[in-house]
Amino acid sequence: MKTVYIHENQLATAGELLANGGLVAFPTETVYGLGADARSDEAIRCIFEAKGRPTDNPLIVHVASFEQIYPLVLDVTAATKRLMVRFWPGPITLVFPKSKLVSNVVTAGMDTVAIRIPSHPWAHAILKHAQIPVAAPSANRSGSPSATTWQAVQQDLDQRIDAIVCGPPTDIGLESTVVDATGEHPRILRPGKITWEELVKVCPSIIPYSGHVDLENAVLNSPGLRHRHYQPRAHVTLVHGHLPGVNQEAWFIGLNKSSGTDSCSRCLYCDSVEDYSARLFDFFRQADDAGVRTIFCEEVNESGIGVALMDRLRRASQS
Ligand code: TXA
Ligand code: MG
Repeated sequence: MKTVYIHENQLATAGELLANGGLVAFPTETVYGLGADARSDEAIRCIFEAKGRPTDNPLIVHVASFEQIYPLVLDVTAATKRLMVRFWPGPITLVFPKSKLVSNVVTAGMDTVAIRIPSHPWAHAILKHAQIPVAAPSANRSGSPSATTWQAVQQDLDQRIDAIVCGPPTDIGLESTVVDATGEHPRILRPGKITWEELVKVCPSIIPYSGHVDLENAVLNSPGLRHRHYQPRAHVTLVHGHLPGVNQEAWFIGLNKSSGTDSCSRCLYCDSVEDYSARLFDFFRQADDAGVRTIFCEEVNESGIGVALMDRLRRASQS
């Protein structure tokens, strides 16, 4: 399949391709997504195939407006409504009981559907042109770090999808916060840019992200979390304060100069935890392209977006 490259003045074309059953990768404020018509079993199966994604891992449905949501869901709880009003459009995904309109392939057979209204102007324009609900996982091969640039999408999915929208690098660089507020006790299923500190102001009883979801709960609540994720080919080691031994072949990313970083062949010192989050996945990809064997990643405090960054770092470091 020949992949078409789409530019800013052609976003209507991207929308049309999606509406006609095509697979289109496009930028969002979190990471690039790989979109297809959420009502079409056939289009959605193509997403799983292009990514090599396990079919038991459900997808997030993206829409441009609140009105588009009601036909897709059976109910909106009061807590969910508060979260929608406060945080949408933006980097948070909410779980709803699904209606028949959403393909069962999207939800991997679950009776809930995860939905997001992205704030990125390009994503918004494409969704408005498409006029359909668009299921979109991160636009990377399954298991690899999410794509934060169109070039990363190209590396993983060229010739496997219909089109790639060549937008700017994404701002946030980590995937959206996922919250399930369908039940009595809203909970964070995946940490992201919208933090527990912000969520608790709207949902005082929200259960923080637990970090170590056991297999059974993961299956019930957020199936994607038990799959291998975010891993570069290089071996990732988390460090705090100092690096072990001499590491001429290794790369380092973090906030501070640590003892031992002098010996690394490349060091990337980030300005803030936000900056670190935004640059991490691209750094992983660059390391793989350079054939680096070891990446040292400095640990950060687990508050604010630090919770999400540490979650991705831990997953990347799991062997
Ligand atoms: O920022 C993002 O969320 C990006 C952009 C493209 O929007 N998308 C993304 O999609 O990260 P993906 O497929 O890589 O991750 C979707 C996550 C998975 O952990 C999946 O298990 C969870 O959302 N999920 C999907 N549907 C769910 C549902 N009905 N209940 C609970 N978790 C669900
Ligand atoms: Mg993903």
